[in-house]
Amino acid sequence: MVSFNIFFCPLCFSNPVARSDPDLVLARSSVCGIHTLASEPFFGQSVLLPLLCLWRSHQCPKALGGMFRNVAAIYLHLAGLFQRKKAGTSLTRCMHQTFAMAKRLQARRLDGIDHNPWVEFGKMASEYDVVNLGQGFPDFPPPNFAIQAFQLALNSDFMLNQYTKAFGYPPLTKILASFFGKLLGQEIVPLKNVLVTVGAYGALFTAFQALVDEGDEVIIMEPFFDCYEPMTLMAGGRPVFVTLKPSPTQDGELDSASSWQLDPTELASKFTSRTKALILNTPNNPVGKVFSKAELELVASLCQQHDVICISDEVYQWLVYDGHQHISIASLPGMWERTLTIGSAGKSFSATGWKVGWALGPDSLLKHLRTVHQNTVYHCPTQGQAAVAQSFQHEQLHFGQPSSYFVQLPQAVRRYRDHMIRSLQSVGLRPVVPQGSYFLIADISDFKTQMPDLPGDADEPYDSRFVKWMIRNKGLAAIPVSVFYSTPHRKQFDHYVRFCFVKVKDGGLEGREDLRKLPVAHWCCGEGGVGLTCVGAGRVHAPGHGREAAEVEG
Ligand SMILES: Cc1ncc(COP(=O)(O)O)c(C=O)c1O
Repeated sequence: MVSFNIFFCPLCFSNPVARSDPDLVLARSSVCGIHTLASEPFFGQSVLLPLLCLWRSHQCPKALGGMFRNVAAIYLHLAGLFQRKKAGTSLTRCMHQTFAMAKRLQARRLDGIDHNPWVEFGKMASEYDVVNLGQGFPDFPPPNFAIQAFQLALNSDFMLNQYTKAFGYPPLTKILASFFGKLLGQEIVPLKNVLVTVGAYGALFTAFQALVDEGDEVIIMEPFFDCYEPMTLMAGGRPVFVTLKPSPTQDGELDSASSWQLDPTELASKFTSRTKALILNTPNNPVGKVFSKAELELVASLCQQHDVICISDEVYQWLVYDGHQHISIASLPGMWERTLTIGSAGKSFSATGWKVGWALGPDSLLKHLRTVHQNTVYHCPTQGQAAVAQSFQHEQLHFGQPSSYFVQLPQAVRRYRDHMIRSLQSVGLRPVVPQGSYFLIADISDFKTQMPDLPGDADEPYDSRFVKWMIRNKGLAAIPVSVFYSTPHRKQFDHYVRFCFVKVKDGGLEGREDLRKLPVAHWCCGEGGVGLTCVGAGRVHAPGHGREAAEVEG
């Protein structure tokens, strides 16, 4: 419904604060009696408001535009009203409903963030018969020990059906403290340094709300997990972007996520006296980059120099390949005191639906997260936490050994990655080999050259049009990489799409013979094309093959 916030109240308008931000005065309408009256649904908006508009336009001809908008808005209300009346509703009821809805409903903190790519592409994928390689979750089950732990949590102590401690089920905070204490080289105190949250999403949201204030700047490295920007904005902060840029590879060489780098000078230039936090994501979603020790040291030294908090999203920490090593920035000298380390049981144990996450950090930071947590969700579901506690106990016993899930999972998933790389290459896409995570991005520049005019709005990034085209015509869903960029940079990076390679149930790409008809496959390989099932030594996935990853427990 159209709202009237374009209207300048004559009284407020003569006030210098209102002049600089009339919306502000409108938002706090108690400041102004006329506003309060004018926002009143019936008399205010249909009688007083138009009169005031007329008065304003007489005072200042520039206000005419606003007046026309208001008149158009009122017209829309009335048109809607009479249309509903025709449907047989009583006029009084229609009028009440129409004018009651005229109030602005959406809180201003949601302005500009109400469009979500997951909803849009998820909905579209559900409307077609597709292999969905878009969303980030495995289609194989969690390890047996984790499933059994959940079953035990359901069937054993009935008190696990009740609330537990607000900041985490004690056996879980205890095992997280001892497990990650060793990795981070810290004495972690369960009650002070651990907060259990509703997934890593919950930890991120709590962190932004607790630490980012109005006007604070937050440095975000793009491409970024898409919620960082809206979470910054909802907290009143200002996102400041710094872009990872791919360096060119030698002809014939596969692109690698490691060649996506930050320019140290550019990164340093983003820190100002207003910078409150930097968000780091390693292994990174969507590129699959694992930050090297040298890169982390650079970030760490800038954070220390400028007294900045580091929010480190490490949900894919166990999914690292080819001998690369995940390093937690909190383990670097001087960083524990200013870092929040965020993790996810969903990603760790292939159980994203459990939605158990955590934030680890010094009490000086965590106490503020606890304040947000206790005033928002307060408790997380107890049984899921109990299952995660047991699963970590299992992992602690097997740590570093071949029987550890955290050792077996990346070995299994690397094979899926390699298989997908070959499949994508065979249809003319150019995959960027990820060092970690379960995503890879593929370069679609050749398609962009071959078929520049895919359907869609002219200002819609190419990769987004490409994904829609692929869903409709090829039965394959993925995510356009431009959604992981800030708006000004989207067009520069609109020639990549992201695939999730832990989708093995239907053979992933294996089953998609029709993909051979992708134009670039013809263009690259001739009419015969290169089959999807035979490239390299890739093992053919039979249905149910995914159980391999699920049964990796020792
Ligand atoms: C980088 C990153 N952080 C956090 C999350 C959210 O994790 P969770 O499912 O535990 O909320 C995701 C999920 O895709 C992610 O990719």
